[in-house]
Amino acid sequence: MNRKSDSVSIVGMGYVGLCTAATFASRGIRTVGIDIDDERVQQIRKGKAPLHEPQLDTMLRKAVKSNLLEATTDISQAIDTTTTFLTVGTPSGADGSIDLRYLKTAVADLGKALSKKPGFHLVVVKSTVVPGTTNSVVKHSLEESSGKNVGAELGLCANPEFLKEGTAINDALHPDKIVIGSNDRKSANQLTKLYRRFYGSKPPPVITTNPESAELVKYASNAFLATKISFINTIANIAQQIPGVDVGTIAEAIGLDPRIGSLFLKAGPGYGGSCFHKDLLALINYSKQKGYNPVLFRATEDTNEKQAIRVVSMAEKLLGSLSDKRVAVLGLAFKKDTDDTREAASLRVIESLKKKGAHVVAYDPMAIPNAKKVFSEQIDYAENSHAALKGADCCIIMTEWDQFRKLKAKDFQGYMKTPNIVDARRIYDPHAFSDLSYVAIGVGRGRA
Ligand code: UGA
Repeated sequence: MNRKSDSVSIVGMGYVGLCTAATFASRGIRTVGIDIDDERVQQIRKGKAPLHEPQLDTMLRKAVKSNLLEATTDISQAIDTTTTFLTVGTPSGADGSIDLRYLKTAVADLGKALSKKPGFHLVVVKSTVVPGTTNSVVKHSLEESSGKNVGAELGLCANPEFLKEGTAINDALHPDKIVIGSNDRKSANQLTKLYRRFYGSKPPPVITTNPESAELVKYASNAFLATKISFINTIANIAQQIPGVDVGTIAEAIGLDPRIGSLFLKAGPGYGGSCFHKDLLALINYSKQKGYNPVLFRATEDTNEKQAIRVVSMAEKLLGSLSDKRVAVLGLAFKKDTDDTREAASLRVIESLKKKGAHVVAYDPMAIPNAKKVFSEQIDYAENSHAALKGADCCIIMTEWDQFRKLKAKDFQGYMKTPNIVDARRIYDPHAFSDLSYVAIGVGRGRA
């Protein structure tokens, strides 16, 4: 076991907490993972990830085996570490505002535990929270429950996370930046030192600022990325009206301008996942409360919602009425290489297909169990792509899984009743599908 001075505790073994814990331990830093869910804790103790993330299982196994990672439901174990990261979820409330219920409970429990600790302890808010949360809700609750003062006896920082599902481990090991928001030098120094130990001779750039700015950086980042996607989807929908034009060419060209950049310019059925929609709603709500209506972000969200409707309209254009039509939906996950279906565009598309009376048969290599929690028996689930295509009147590609890319025109011709294809992820070469009834987002059909 390493020196006490090197140890961290992480409260909330969800996606961010678990990946953070595994990577800290992988760098030889003793880590205590804390969660209220006993089943989850037991699983982590066995070195098994309770969620799907590439590389995570291997890393967890090693970390647990080397005794560098412990998991517990007992938050009082945090006091044996020097720094506690809070990584609990901050979902949307009914009105879209941020719901701080889990954070409040975690802070109160942590504060109670810290009341028994003699020395200084640093608390770091990694959960996504609206500006001001660290210095108001977290600070007050921490001081009240611990009976200590932030500044003298307790350190407090906001330190947002920028991990992407599917590449989280790599993102954690090689971040483009670290943002540390702190009120005092002592807290910022302790956290900077910890990250220096983590990243060794090649540290990422560190932006040191106040907590409110650090909190806003996270929202600005997600709002920008979401807006970039809605932007390219808007251009895609324009491009689709122009025969011979493909949004891919437009994205490639504008992406070469360093002011624009080539990433996040893939047109598609709209963004999904647990963050963009939730964070935009929270930011819009927060901003309105402050007296400013950020209409741009409302447009980002509206564009995203409508993109799913557009996918369904594309199917209707090929088929006419969708009533009683068998529609194969390939892909349920919000992006490839994950089993996560939260806010996935596929859910919006399937919902609309059902309303129009279509019979949906869905296939996804990983996400069927999660989709079943949403749709249960309201739709059918196929065992593989071919089974989904069998007898279908239309196929909609909703996730860019590699295995779907490998499907050839003859697969669609051979299995489907009529090979109508809506390629919402633009994974096929339109020329290879010219004998089929094929439409893709952002591809204007025919010759100019
Ligand atoms: C996103 C951010 O990218 C992370 O930086 C952030 O830390 C995370 O949210 C979070 O706040 O926790 P994530 O939701 O895992 O990460 O996934 P992304 O890779 O950003 O994809 C989000 C959605 O946008 C997916 O549905 C994806 O298919 C879509 N997308 C992405 C596009 O439609 N086009 C693109 O060009 C890129």
